[in-house]
Amino acid sequence: MSSSKPTILVTGGAGYIGSHAVLALKAAGYSVVILDNLVYGHRDLVDEVLGVEFILGDTCDRPLLDDLFARHDIAAVMHFAAYIFVGESVTDPAKYYHNNVVGTLTLLEAMQAAGVQRFVFSSTCATYGIPQFMPLTEDHPQAPINPYGFTKLMVEQVLADFDRAYGLKSVCFRYFNAAGADPQGRLGEDHHPETHLIPLVLQAALGRRESIAVFGTDYDTPDGTCVRDYIHVCDLAQAHILGLEYLLDGGDSQAFNLGNGNGFSVKDVIDVANAITGRKIPVQFGDRRAGDSPILVGSSQKARDGLGWIPEYRDLGDIVRHAWQWHQKRHG
Ligand SMILES: NC(=O)c1ccc[n+]([C@@H]2O[C@H](COP(=O)([O-])OP(=O)(O)OC[C@H]3O[C@@H](n4cnc5c(N)ncnc54)[C@H](O)[C@@H]3O)[C@@H](O)[C@H]2O)c1
Repeated sequence: MSSSKPTILVTGGAGYIGSHAVLALKAAGYSVVILDNLVYGHRDLVDEVLGVEFILGDTCDRPLLDDLFARHDIAAVMHFAAYIFVGESVTDPAKYYHNNVVGTLTLLEAMQAAGVQRFVFSSTCATYGIPQFMPLTEDHPQAPINPYGFTKLMVEQVLADFDRAYGLKSVCFRYFNAAGADPQGRLGEDHHPETHLIPLVLQAALGRRESIAVFGTDYDTPDGTCVRDYIHVCDLAQAHILGLEYLLDGGDSQAFNLGNGNGFSVKDVIDVANAITGRKIPVQFGDRRAGDSPILVGSSQKARDGLGWIPEYRDLGDIVRHAWQWHQKRHG
């Protein structure tokens, strides 16, 4: 039976968050086309788990995009494709501005030409910069402290201007720290290089790295280590379905934080990982790292009120357990 729901283009759908969104879209009955250049994505997961049409290509490739939109009746685009490494964005900003800004602009221009007017964008809490109050709400000033954050803020600006001028409607989701994995173990996080705390801790648990480094133990937090907001990747994916449907129902452009609302410290993550893996993860305590805020926690009340989003896996134990299942299967 053919799907009665429209077709959604998912850029970066072979990556971590995009692949979970594709699973959620399929479960909700949408047809999906993935565009990914596989610089970081995983083709095996597309073929073996997602089973949707895959186009190998780059968001900077305008002829390819024009051809894609001509051959598919795309109702909306979910745009995950971007480079994500904050440190690399400092040492090689050209790479980040080109991929994340020029690539997105090229995609938006191709959408304009094809008459596709709905866009769900992966933005980030890194657009806020140094927090002036906590929890962070969407009206917190946006003042990024690295090129990665600026690339995302620039796209938010482009989207606001495209709405005013051309009527393109967008939802910008400002994620906090995406974490966890598909509870059934089909998908998970597999970045190369890995820079995120939970997979790094689990790699140490598997003996794939010697130890986990903790930067700073004297912050003004309950246990002295940094506190972050970890949001389960399946809850992110679900929010994308709600954001998409909000736009398909005629909703106006909006930005929403997506976070857990609870902060967990680096030590909390290591303690929970020790308990779940049953292994004693080797830890090296070091000095604070420049640019790290002691606490980063977001309020997602606007997404709850505006989209009816209710995150299901807010417990750190669930997040780490699902990630551990995946890491054992993929790398154990
Ligand atoms: N992981 C997080 O905690 C987090 C937090 C905030 C925001 N985000 C944003 O969410 C999005 C997805 O992040 P992720 O963790 O899944 O990253 P990821 O690297 O796993 O996925 C990104 C995917 O996009 C593809 N890609 C990159 N540039 C492309 C291009 N020009 N054309 C086609 N494909 C391209 C990569 O091959 C990869 O498969 C990114 O936009 C990122 O900035 C992630």
